Amino acid sequence: MIPPHERRILEAHVRGCRLAQLDLIRLEHPLNEYEDRALKDLIKLRIRGVPLQYLTNSQAFYGRDFYVNTSVLVPRPETEGLVELVLSQLPAPHSDNQPMGLDFGTGSGAIALTLGLERADSFVYASEVSNEALAVAKENAKSHRVVNTEFLLVSEEPQLWQYESVPRLDFLVANPPYLVANDELAADVREHEPPEALFTPEHDPLYFYRFLAELAAEKLGPGGFGAFEIAEQRGHETALVFASKGFNVEVRKDLTERDRYLLVRRM
Ligand SMILES: C[S@@+](CC[C@H](N)C(=O)[O-])C[C@H]1O[C@@H](n2cnc3c(N)ncnc32)[C@H](O)[C@@H]1O
Repeated sequence: MIPPHERRILEAHVRGCRLAQLDLIRLEHPLNEYEDRALKDLIKLRIRGVPLQYLTNSQAFYGRDFYVNTSVLVPRPETEGLVELVLSQLPAPHSDNQPMGLDFGTGSGAIALTLGLERADSFVYASEVSNEALAVAKENAKSHRVVNTEFLLVSEEPQLWQYESVPRLDFLVANPPYLVANDELAADVREHEPPEALFTPEHDPLYFYRFLAELAAEKLGPGGFGAFEIAEQRGHETALVFASKGFNVEVRKDLTERDRYLLVRRM
């Protein structure tokens, strides 16, 4: 069994209609044989724990629908808070200045594309190690008609030279992988979301933050800032990585009062 609202979401997906139209359409058109089979198959997958978003290929993020598939992490509500944090730190639009940013590990493109859409005056580079994920991000850029973004395919081991084409930045943003094997994680997530989006190499939860600190030191211009999503239990040690490179650091809380973001600024 799945919760009734999830069944409704899956049925609307199979019928290709909006959830709000479902009751009306149901009255006029009973499911045909093909739709009935398709819905039953989706329900079986959901019972096996496949996230709903992978079954409907869709997740709302910052008020827009993003295409998702199993190559990308499903964008989370906490990450909307990270976007909010970046937007709150950017100076008001000014004709003389185009804010330049980089979203490391863009996945579905949710962060980079939302920033590009919310700040049409900005330009956002977006890096990703997975070709399949990058295809999803490009699909989302196309459907949302985003033109102020450039995608970079990078190799697994993060190195500064991979970012040579990126100019001096006003901001660096990332929701990098930050989990290690022993970290608590819902079974649905562990079993179905891409491991390279969740777990760090070398059993080092700070692996990507160490690189992001190097990248920030290399690329951020005067007044530039970095905004990162972090594991709530590792706020202090993640902040230290940046503090040791001479950044001002500030751990910020999400709406549920958990330490979930790190804001760093050039001294
Ligand atoms: C936690 S997911 C975040 C995805 C997306 N930014 C979001 O917030 O929904 C981390 C992403 O980093 C990517 N990634 C992993 N290693 C990387 C690397 N060395 N360089 C760039 N991206 C990497 C993963 O493929 C994954 O898409």
